[in-house]
Amino acid sequence: MLTVELDAHSYPIYIGPGLLSSAEIFGSHITGSQVMVVTNDCVSPLYLETLTKALGNFDVYTKILPDGEQYKNVDTLTSIFDALMEIPCDRQCTVIALGGGVVGDIAGFAAACYQRGVALIQVPTTLLAQVDSSVGGKTAVNHAMGKNMIGAFYQPKAVIADTNTLDTLPDRELRAGIAEVIKYGLLGDYEFFEWLEVNINDLLNRSQSGLIFAIERSCQNKAQIVARDEREKGERALLNLGHTFAHAIETATNYSSWLHGEAVAVGMLMAADLSVRLNNISGKELARIAAIIEHSKLPRTPPPGVSPDQFITHMSVDKKVERGNIRLVLLRAIGQAYLSDDYPASKLNETLQHFCAKSREAI
Ligand code: NAD
Ligand code: GLY
Repeated sequence: MLTVELDAHSYPIYIGPGLLSSAEIFGSHITGSQVMVVTNDCVSPLYLETLTKALGNFDVYTKILPDGEQYKNVDTLTSIFDALMEIPCDRQCTVIALGGGVVGDIAGFAAACYQRGVALIQVPTTLLAQVDSSVGGKTAVNHAMGKNMIGAFYQPKAVIADTNTLDTLPDRELRAGIAEVIKYGLLGDYEFFEWLEVNINDLLNRSQSGLIFAIERSCQNKAQIVARDEREKGERALLNLGHTFAHAIETATNYSSWLHGEAVAVGMLMAADLSVRLNNISGKELARIAAIIEHSKLPRTPPPGVSPDQFITHMSVDKKVERGNIRLVLLRAIGQAYLSDDYPASKLNETLQHFCAKSREAI
């Protein structure tokens, strides 16, 4: 068990197979007698019954959302409030988010708002959610004009990651989660990056021991950063390595054809390429990063048709932009990321030209 150390708001992260049926673990973090399980219509047929059995001693209610990022909005949030009010659930109730990052973000925000905040337990069922979104307390829904624009920092009472749930995850979703795992090695944990270079096949082949190690190590890295900078005043922004480039790809493709982790994989490579052009890292280091991304069957070029100018436009409206400069997470070395808006614009332009040309060649 790991702990996210946040003084009075510290909480455990449990990682392992079969945790979904642990009445003891769930029981020790539930407050009150009422539990509202929020999940979606993809995850509920797979895991809701197992979880409900483990919650045998409580009054269990369920809210099943439609599956998909397009439902991560205020209307769906309101439907969770309606379900809580109709029962009605009291201030001591506990909300359990059972699903990937979409369910976790929206149920987390519902828990943050309902009666000014009720207990929340995150039960992530995608690799991305187990290594990233369930940890650290960012909750949100999307607004028509921007992703994750309406939300709150709201820490759960516990994160319970049952690694058996990854058995049913589609390969493409698994690989998108692996991109976020690689991110931890790149941004602050060189030893982990080396481990990934040797053991990436274990993750791709869903070895339980490999996945558990990688999830634990990723959560450890994230928990330490969150403990030092819960509200993203500084260091936490390093978790956005590759994300500003990725955001441009996702916007240009209307969030429809690329998974977030796929866009992050290309984004990390673009950040690494720019880091070479700034003489921070060597071409050899860039090749190692490209190799692990390629081996994970993640994309290494942006989608064709996105021009350097479009990149700049979309990157400039990213919420990480301050005072008109594009603030980026760059690499000083593999395992050492830093934040900067102090680099020659011509170097960023070279990176964008290079990647857009590569994507044209790939057609
Ligand atoms: P997701 O929640 O859409 O899940 C991906 C797909 O897998 C969905 O169709 C889902 O229903 C399905 N699924 C979930 N668990 C499954 C399982 N065990 N077996 C089979 N199918 C399963 O996507 P995601 O990648 O988990 O999360 C993406 C979301 O997370 C985005 O909305 C993003 O903004 C958010 N996010 C939040 C944070 C944060 O810090 N809060 C960090 C990163 C991403
Ligand atoms: N996923 C980035 C963060 O939690 O800060």
